Amino acid sequence: MLKGKHIVLGITGGIAAYKSVMLLRLFVKAGAEVQVVMTPSAKEFITPVTLSSLSGKPVISEFFTANTGEWHSHVDLGLWADAMVIAPLTASTMGKMASGVADNMLVTSYLSTRAKVFAAPAMDLDMWRHPSSQRNLSVLRSDGVEIIEPEAGELASGLVGKGRMEEPEVIFSRVSSWLTKKDVLKGKRYLVTAGPTYENIDPVRFIGNHSSGKMGFAIASALASFGAEVHLVSGPVSLPTPSGNVVRTDVVNAREMLTASEAVFQSCDGAVFCAAVADYAPVVCEERKIKREKLDRITLELVKNPDISATIGMMKSSGQRLVGFALETDNEFDNAVGKMQRKGLDWIALNSLREAGAGFRTDTNRVTLISAQGAVTEIPLMSKTEVARRIVEECFL
Ligand code: PMT
Repeated sequence: MLKGKHIVLGITGGIAAYKSVMLLRLFVKAGAEVQVVMTPSAKEFITPVTLSSLSGKPVISEFFTANTGEWHSHVDLGLWADAMVIAPLTASTMGKMASGVADNMLVTSYLSTRAKVFAAPAMDLDMWRHPSSQRNLSVLRSDGVEIIEPEAGELASGLVGKGRMEEPEVIFSRVSSWLTKKDVLKGKRYLVTAGPTYENIDPVRFIGNHSSGKMGFAIASALASFGAEVHLVSGPVSLPTPSGNVVRTDVVNAREMLTASEAVFQSCDGAVFCAAVADYAPVVCEERKIKREKLDRITLELVKNPDISATIGMMKSSGQRLVGFALETDNEFDNAVGKMQRKGLDWIALNSLREAGAGFRTDTNRVTLISAQGAVTEIPLMSKTEVARRIVEECFL
């Protein structure tokens, strides 16, 4: 399954290092060639001999082999790899990776690689939730590292909480699924709408909503990770453009979002409408700020915005596939199906505003994916990155 694939397995100094032996075995059994790189402190937790026996290659830890003076090229290693997997990733190495402190072979190889990087953090719960760790994590995410989040459970300290490294089988399945499918959408183009729209009332105020853009950007990133070219049309958000072949157009209001979407859709193989588009816009946008001192009460006249997904739905040809999102509070399933039918969509991803950890702003989501043919797939609560990947696999692969 992974024959011919090259993996650099980076191991850092944490108690979860013992699980890396299992991970290494899984990669080797699947046919991958694995080069283990350890930080010096990782060797306090697990011996290089175990790892070199299983991988069939000497473990690399230092820049030079002490007795021969042989130089280990981090550049060659970085270029050799199809994927780099750092498991476990300690808070210390995470900080070094986020700020480019290349004082060991592992971080140097990370900075040199062009391969996809996966990282499975493992640390105590207070270290995990410390603002410094969370800051470093978001830097790594925006640098394109795929974070395989730790689980909650009993930790080495005896405390119970989030911080336990994900199980080797899960890490293996995430990495191998990426390695085997990474180019399946090469040559395909997709439109993705994301974020909110702002409908200006005057130069200061607008009608908007709570969308952060996280779900839509995760969809764009998932499509790009399968090799597709993505046209991401985004409302006002503060997120970096996902890595890969992603062309981004920033817009403010629904009309601009429609124009930008229409401009690219004809040449696309499909679209995902994740944006939370404002349904109405003020008929007039005042040129000057409305002064509250002069008015005790004001009435805004609103006009319906164009429906972007429905407009594109009317343009679509037989080969093009469309996926919409539905954000509902009641009668959720029937409302979502109604929207899919009215807008000419092939799939609709229903997420609920009533569910903790789902919908606006969160890093997680739970989605019921419904097809025009009536198939229903439940995607349980998981990171938006994972939800996006599942939606893309279900709808476009
Ligand atoms: O951005 P996040 O903080 O990560 O939050 C993600 C999300 C909750 C915004 C996202 O998962 C989501 O549900 N997006 C759609 C929200 C929405 O506006 O749903 P709706 O039921 O109003 O619209 C249905 C579909 O029609 C959507 O695909 C929407 O993009 C599209 N639409 C709606 C109105 C309009 N004028 N044009 C549209 O294209």
